[in-house]
Amino acid sequence: MYGLVNTAVADLARAVGGEEAWQEVCAHAQVPPVAFVGTAAYPDDVTYRLVEGASAVLGMSPEQVLAAFGRHWVRYTSQRGWGPLLQSAGGSLPEVLAGLDALHARVRLMMPELRPPSFRCVELSATTLRLDYWSERPGLAPMVVGLVEGLAELLGGSASATHVRVAADRHDHDSFAVTHSPAPA
Ligand code: HEM
Repeated sequence: MYGLVNTAVADLARAVGGEEAWQEVCAHAQVPPVAFVGTAAYPDDVTYRLVEGASAVLGMSPEQVLAAFGRHWVRYTSQRGWGPLLQSAGGSLPEVLAGLDALHARVRLMMPELRPPSFRCVELSATTLRLDYWSERPGLAPMVVGLVEGLAELLGGSASATHVRVAADRHDHDSFAVTHSPAPA
């Protein structure tokens, strides 16, 4: 994955446990503690090892690390030049979720080796929706939970996402049930 993802893992580890924690995460992951280049592509294995390292060092399960990372990601990217792109994706949670493939397609203009996931947002009522998620990478569903909840907060509202269908042999995608409240008027 692009280095931007790994720099966000580093930022999260530092926010939770300081520079020392990040150095320990790198040691545990057997990744040299050098700065990642945000616009360079790295093997996915590096990111998975960093998540495992963060789990061991920060005393969280890998699923908890991924969920925390998802929440962190939306703030992190919006503070590092990607805010306007996120804002242009829409003003409400369903709008932004429905536009995620278009958003990643625009990211790919700048990161040509991007292998983005794909999403489908099905609105069920004014406050509930189903989010379907296709990815070539295994095990990242907890990150989607954090992403959706963090995104709702960034938009001034709140959301709760539950992983209701797991990708398996007969299902090529994961699904999430999302309940959301918009920002107060
Ligand atoms: C402007 C904001 C965003 C940027 C710049 C961005 C960019 C990226 C990048 C660089 C990757 C790594 C993929 C690769 O290197 O091949 C990625 C992966 C991912 N993105 Fe985004 N993204 C943004 C917002 C979002 C949002 C809001 C969501 C969901 C609510 C999302 C869902 C994901 C997921 C789940 C992955 C993991 C890869 C996978 O499932 O295969 N992204 N994104």
